[in-house]
Parts: sequence; structure tokens; C-alpha cells
Amino acid sequence: MKIEENVPLKTLTTFKVGGPARYVITCTQVSDVEEAIAFACAQNLPLIVLGGGSNVLALDAGYPGVVLLIRMEGTTVVEETNEHSIYEVSAGVPWDTFVTFVAEQSLWGIENLSGIPGSVGATPVQNIGAYGMDVSQTITSVKVYNTLTEQIETIPASACQFTYRDSRFKHEPHLIILSVMFDLSRTGVPHIGYPDLRKAQEEGVPLETPTEIAEAVREIRSHKFPDLRQYGTAGSFFKNPIITPEQFADLSKQYGAIPSFPHPDGIKIPLAFILDRVLSLKGYKNGNTFLFGNQPLVVVADTHATSKDIEHLAQDIEKKVFDATGITIEREVTLFVAHEIIF
Ligand code: EPU
Repeated sequence: MKIEENVPLKTLTTFKVGGPARYVITCTQVSDVEEAIAFACAQNLPLIVLGGGSNVLALDAGYPGVVLLIRMEGTTVVEETNEHSIYEVSAGVPWDTFVTFVAEQSLWGIENLSGIPGSVGATPVQNIGAYGMDVSQTITSVKVYNTLTEQIETIPASACQFTYRDSRFKHEPHLIILSVMFDLSRTGVPHIGYPDLRKAQEEGVPLETPTEIAEAVREIRSHKFPDLRQYGTAGSFFKNPIITPEQFADLSKQYGAIPSFPHPDGIKIPLAFILDRVLSLKGYKNGNTFLFGNQPLVVVADTHATSKDIEHLAQDIEKKVFDATGITIEREVTLFVAHEIIF
């Protein structure tokens, strides 16, 4: 366990903004997590758990408590048959490293989720998804340290409350994810119904094995996000809105054919379509932040951006969308402090 003081949060998040955290504790084993909690309790400080920092917005003011960095690594086979393999993966393993490993074993189930930044432990939190797949389809259980009971608990997938970009872990920060159990299949069929993948297939890109699909998705994604060496971003900043059939009919009458996906609560439409075709906001700039030209759902921060700049841009976009369509959009990226645990 490593304890550091006054570490700039901009070095720990992919948005690359955020002032200093009072303490940062790097945990490479489960016992470190318990020790870090004991440290925070002894100092009477609140605590925030951070994985890859790819879906959070940290504040310019920094954080006056303890940041617990999840860096436990290790992947173990729990069960292996002719039909499937079950793996337990430590929360600190980089997600794309695991996707590559699984695809190389010719196992199916997460190949469409390649190229997503962040750690394995963060994937159930917002139930990451892309190209018609979401991670909850392969998760069987999640192992957590519950700071309320002070016990390690295994939560079956059925109790994780997975929905579109959401789970109970997003609302219950006292459940610190230690590892995730995945059930991957030996047999599978390519899920290439999404327009970007169909287009790749038409262009002759091979899409038959998990590795080929994972590679194709990485290539597609590489054009939708800015170069992280130069800019900060947290991927899609907003969720795609779920609207009523009446709202959908009204919008379609005004703006023509809108892509849509069925959802239990209504119709899910791409916000990128509204930002691009309705509001012409591709590349829209506000201060040191802008909407990415190739995918306006992605908010980009340049080297001088602050969290205040990002907040301004977000509010500006929320208002523009509401004024034009009556839709109240929700954020996908969460505020760093939203995950705070107070002992
Ligand atoms: N579109 C436009 N103009 C554009 C870009 C897109 O009109 O400039 C329309 C097109 O009709 C396109 C549609 O928007 O077909 C959807 O775009 P895209 O396939 O890029 O996906 P998305 O809905 O914008 C979601 C996820 C992404 C995930 C992709 C791929 C959310 C909030 N975002 O984006 O996830 O990679 O699908 O399936 O659900 C993330 O969560 O950080 C993330 C990147």
C-alpha cells in the first residue's frame, strides 16, 4: 500500500482536470483496501474509490479526503468446460487487456466492448455497453467489500440492478468492487448489426472471430474519440435519451428518420443525432472545451480546460437540447464527489 499526499486529480482522470487530492492510497491487494479504509477512519476523512478515472469529472478545488486507487491485478479460471469458461478478474485489471485475453482464447461475450478505457472493476458500475452488447450480459457476480458490514460479499448479477448505463454500484459507493466474475462462451455468433460494424463488413473487414471483431471495434472507436495524449475526455458525456413514442413521432415528423433502439421504458435515440442533425453542434466550442467533430456526444477538454469550463459546456448543451426538443438529457459521466463514502 502506497500513500501519497497532494496528488493532482488531473493526473488520475482521463478528462485531465481536477485539483489536488489530500491523500491518494494505491491498493494492489485486497488487504490494502481494508487498511486504506482504516486510515481514512482514523483521520476522520471521507473516501472515494477510483479505478481508471475514465468516467468521472473531478473538481478544480481538488478533494480534501482520501482517494483509494484500485490497482489489484490477477485473472483466475474458476470453471472451464467445452461450452464456457468462468473467470474471476481483479478490479484493477485494465478492461481492454481482459477483452484481448478473452478474444485470444476464442471465447465470446465481450468482443464488441473492446477499446473502452478504464478498469474491470468500473465496468459493472455503469454497465458499460457498445455495439449492441453490454457487460451485464456476461457478469455472473461481483465481489465487494461492504464498508457498512465490514465484510467481503458476493453479489449475484440478479441483485446488481443492471439497466442502461446504470447499476446499484453507481448509487451505493459503500460497495467497493474487488473482483468481477465473467461467464464467456466457447460458441457464439458475431453481433454485427450496428451500422458501424455492418459498414466495416461491407468494406471487407473480416468479422468472424472474437479477435477480428474486437480489432474492428477498436479501429471504429479510434475515430470517435480524440487523441488522449493531446486532449482530455471521458467518452460519451451524456446518456442517450429514452423518450416516449409520442415524442419520437413528433421529432420524426420534424427531422425525418431518426435511428432508434427499443428500450423497456420507451424508445432510445442517439443524442449524437440531435446534436448533429438538429442542432448542428459538431465541433461546437465553449471556452477550452468542445464537442468532438466525429462524435458530438464526446466532450473534449483541451490542455487549459478546468472542470468549470466542462460544467459550462454541459449546461449549455443541456439547455440547447431542451429548448429545441423538450428532452431533458442526463449525464453519463459522474461528478467525482458523487461516489464519496463518509464513515
Ligand atoms: N450520429 C450522428 N452524427 C454523428 C455521430 C452519430 O447523427 O456525428 C448518429 C448516427 O445516426 C449514429 C448514431 O448517432 O448511428 C449513434 O452513434 P454511435 O454509434 O457513435 O453511438 P452513440 O449512441 O453515440 C453509444 C454509447 C457509446 C458506445 C457506442 C457504440 C452511450 C451514451 N454511448 O454511443 O459508449 O461506444 O454507442 O455502440 O450509450 C460511452 O459510454 O462512453 C461510450 C462511448
